[in-house]
Amino acid sequence: MAQSILPAVRDVTALRDAVRAWRKAGLRVGLVPTMGALHEGHLSLVRAAKERCDRVVASLFVNPRQFAPHEDFERYPRDEGGDSQMLAGAGCDLLFAPERGVMYPEGFATSVIVADVSVPLEGDFRPHFFGGVATVVTKLLLQCLPDVALFGEKDYQQLLVIKKLARDLDIPVEILGCPTVREHDGLAMSSRNAYLSEDERRIAGRLNLILHDAIKAVRHGAPIADAEAEASRHLTAAGFTVVDYVAIRHAETLAPVSDASSARILAAAWLGKTRLIDNMAV
Ligand code: PAF
Repeated sequence: MAQSILPAVRDVTALRDAVRAWRKAGLRVGLVPTMGALHEGHLSLVRAAKERCDRVVASLFVNPRQFAPHEDFERYPRDEGGDSQMLAGAGCDLLFAPERGVMYPEGFATSVIVADVSVPLEGDFRPHFFGGVATVVTKLLLQCLPDVALFGEKDYQQLLVIKKLARDLDIPVEILGCPTVREHDGLAMSSRNAYLSEDERRIAGRLNLILHDAIKAVRHGAPIADAEAEASRHLTAAGFTVVDYVAIRHAETLAPVSDASSARILAAAWLGKTRLIDNMAV
């Protein structure tokens, strides 16, 4: 098992003992759920948690239930030692790094399915994904019972799904979305960016620029469908191999919109074998 320089717990009892002791002492606790392979985006969540809370727990679990059989579960980057060091540097107090059997013991048979916001966009292209995310995040919230849990807006639809499950299931936690952290060329930070070749990496930065152009067009009165189609064409012209979607939707419900007030633009596109997503407020 990898060594962690942060205090690390690997089972639910030890996690609950630590959090209970903090809360008994009147301390506020924040949770930052992760799948590891950390980057500045994750660390910004830890820092945001630290600003709002006295203690911060990060979880590290590559959740098999949110990967389809053909997806990258096996090759997903794993480096607990490096992650632990980065978390410690950002002010994290405790790492929760459970083994698969702790999260999904023999006979595990429950799934959390969030209707409506899970259905379009990512739900169309990765039908298994939000069931896996909602199930593991529900478990993490109930295992830790933090005051606040923080998630990046980069996975915007995921954030909406998690807000909805916490509200629908009366889980007593504040779900806080934090701004996407970007590379110098605007590429949204993601653990999967590590898969990009040099050429792909050069093209990847075009995604956010093309979305910005689409927002500008809509603000200048272009019809939403035209702006979506134009952005999709530009992505293909820039070298994206497949465009799953470019969609301007209502920022809370993800329903199609006829005007751009309260809208968000969301996109998913492939560069070779790597799928990138991004989104921003319109
Ligand atoms: O965004 C992620 O890294 C994951 O989907 C999450 C929220 C940690 C659940 O596995």
